[in-house]
Amino acid sequence: MTETTVISVAGDQPYDITIGRDILGVVADALPPAARKVLVVHPPTLSAPAAQLRELLLASGERQVLLAEVPDAEQGKRVEVAAFCWQVMGQADFTRTDVVVGFGGGAVTDLAGFVAATWLRGVALVQVPTTVLGMVDAAVGGKTGINTAEGKNLVGAFWPPRAVICDLALLDTLSRNERVAGFAEVVKAGFIWYPEILDLIEADPEAAVDPQSPAFRRCIELAIEMKARVVGEDLREAGLREVLNYGHTLGHAIEHAERYQWRHGAAISIGMLFAAELSRLAGRLSDDAAARHRHILELLGLPTAYRGGAWKQLLATMQRDKKTRGSMLRFIVLDDIAKPTVLQAPDESLLFAAYQEVAE
Ligand code: GLY
Repeated sequence: MTETTVISVAGDQPYDITIGRDILGVVADALPPAARKVLVVHPPTLSAPAAQLRELLLASGERQVLLAEVPDAEQGKRVEVAAFCWQVMGQADFTRTDVVVGFGGGAVTDLAGFVAATWLRGVALVQVPTTVLGMVDAAVGGKTGINTAEGKNLVGAFWPPRAVICDLALLDTLSRNERVAGFAEVVKAGFIWYPEILDLIEADPEAAVDPQSPAFRRCIELAIEMKARVVGEDLREAGLREVLNYGHTLGHAIEHAERYQWRHGAAISIGMLFAAELSRLAGRLSDDAAARHRHILELLGLPTAYRGGAWKQLLATMQRDKKTRGSMLRFIVLDDIAKPTVLQAPDESLLFAAYQEVAE
């Protein structure tokens, strides 16, 4: 186990996020002392580390540890899969003092959080994200949920965890593509909050995405710190939390157009460049700051262009986006790097012009 960094999330139910390498042992310390049963929700690809986690939890206290293997990615965020978890809990007499552990990527931690939020009107939750996206975004901030046939995340609850444990050693086996896609959310944190992330990527893009490098760890810590501050102030997205949607309005529309076969980060990359161009064309962001977006995304090998002919379909999807207030489109734009703000109801010609900058 290496030295750990602890970042606290404020709010009605404060909690800590612990970051380090080879720190799965910390999960046991994060469980509620009264918990006698632990449900570890994990995908099939993590059955070996989940079994290792189970052994650690059994060795450190008198408790029963149940493993619920669930389909990975969006296939796991279905009501049938939540029902399977509820069944495991029901058959084990899982009580109000017991605890759910989400062990996987963002989809698994969203599902585990939803199961914890709904069982007996809510039991304790510990999140152990195993992807970059899970660590810097999904597992922090208490958003939990599942999808329905009508759309993503339509059913869910705000249910903050009692702890988040980010073991960076779990990222060593991910492919570079997987790490880089997750890194799009880290880049977002750089543009909206901590420009130090951008400096680190520009200084050495390969080190920035290498889970064993100090630069990578620093980027992850800064991105988590940003998310912790934002959700600590605004859990329910009444205001500040909306800045996290930088790049997401167009990004979600691209994910929808691609029937969710694209990685989230790839769509968000194009969405961020679009948001930067929109900021520039709206007279808010300098040419250099917009160009820096393209430079950094290209350094990492993230996509920066999408089908030119898709604009009408993307616009229609954005107009249906659940974050649209009333019938007005809202975009997070930048007045400068690290100065996010809302652009409400921009002219369609401005949106089209910004899209031309990312159109293939
Ligand atoms: N992923 C955006 C949020 O947590 O609000």
